[in-house]
Amino acid sequence: MATVNSDKLSSARFAQATDAFVEIFTASVDFDQRMASQDIEGSLAHARMLCKIGILSNTELDDIINGLATITQEIEQGEFNWSVPQEDVHMNIEARLTELIGIAGKKLHTGRSRNDQVATDIRLYLRNEISNIDTQLERLQQAILDLAEKEADTIMPGFTHLQVAQPVTFGHHLMAWFEMLVRDRERLQDCCKRINIMPLGAAALAGTSYPIDRYMTAELLGFTRPSNNSLDSVSDRDFAIEFTAAGSLIMMHLSRFSEELVIWASAQFDFIDIPDAFCTGSSIMPQKKNPDVPELIRGKSGRVTGHLVSLLMLMKGQPLAYNKDNQEDKEPLFDTADTLINSLRAFADMVPHLGAKRENMYHAAKQGFATATDLADYLVRKGMAFRDAHEVVGLAVRLGVESRRDLSEISLQELQQFSSTISADVFDILSLEGSVAARKHIGGTAPDTVRAAIKSAREELN
Ligand code: ARG
Repeated sequence: MATVNSDKLSSARFAQATDAFVEIFTASVDFDQRMASQDIEGSLAHARMLCKIGILSNTELDDIINGLATITQEIEQGEFNWSVPQEDVHMNIEARLTELIGIAGKKLHTGRSRNDQVATDIRLYLRNEISNIDTQLERLQQAILDLAEKEADTIMPGFTHLQVAQPVTFGHHLMAWFEMLVRDRERLQDCCKRINIMPLGAAALAGTSYPIDRYMTAELLGFTRPSNNSLDSVSDRDFAIEFTAAGSLIMMHLSRFSEELVIWASAQFDFIDIPDAFCTGSSIMPQKKNPDVPELIRGKSGRVTGHLVSLLMLMKGQPLAYNKDNQEDKEPLFDTADTLINSLRAFADMVPHLGAKRENMYHAAKQGFATATDLADYLVRKGMAFRDAHEVVGLAVRLGVESRRDLSEISLQELQQFSSTISADVFDILSLEGSVAARKHIGGTAPDTVRAAIKSAREELN
């Protein structure tokens, strides 16, 4: 918590001191100090540009560079005195700079405003967080690929309506999660293109009368280009909403993945083992091993979606250009980035240790007449119309239900009661192995196809 003392952000305009509670209420330093390094980076670029256009002397620039280096050190060592009366990260750093170097510190704010400064800081901050999030996304993708490779031949039931539908391979199922993460990464990269445009130079809202060189600052800060319109530059938070929307989709994917893990780890399914290191016990029931990590991530998806809605509501009533409302964008953004990084990290750490219970998966796939569609396709290949084949298979399934047998356990003679087209080769396709092996077109579940998908995914990643 920043200290509350009297060295108020001075404005000669005010005859009265700010109400003590209003001062605390309107301050953002307790949370926006998180952007200190971006704020300093932005100030350094701005100062270099001011020197180039002759507003700062070389000595003044050197003083600013040294002063900001001292401040960086003070912040890193936890010695910086954050002050609430200085309101926010920008004013705190500027005030300390002036304390350290005098007049040159007071010149730094020439030709800029906190409005373009804060917009620049957030963009620099998000650009960096996106790179951290992407690192975790890639780690998770690698972990999924490794597990999918191990489980390329493992047969499990595929579900629709959570009812057994058709057999699939566990490797194929895992690769579905991989594909979602591919799109998640693309979305973040795409959003980054719009984040990486520089608002600095828009000043308060109308630009500045100094002959600033915005191309120079953009280049120094690694932005693609300066923004086109000063009013838009200080008021736009679309990029923050996009980031949170991309983040919400990532969390929604992790939440669905989590839900499957929770179901699969239950005694009723018993498809996977989640290692002890990622579970916790119950304080009262000694037998319990709860899948806490996936459950918590499923829960955390809600807060990120909440942040998305907050930001949309934050913006919807704002006239141009900057309004103080915008100060409310920081906490949702910081929390979105933290939640994404931590959830992805936990997931990427956990996936390599998931243990597939192959026999249970296989047994479950045998339960729900998962090869019924294969039998229908078999009849179609022998010349029957699909709707007639559907009917024949319905009768065979009914017999299976009544006599508690899988289709592959019904004898040839019994099957032939329903259609004389059926011959001994039917048993090749009624097996789970035959069913998955037949689906070998691109995007299919056949083990060899899954291995090929993994191979090309690895090439794409590298
Ligand atoms: N702390 C402010 C924010 O986060 C910085 C910009 C303040 N600008 C102003 N004109 N009051 O948005």
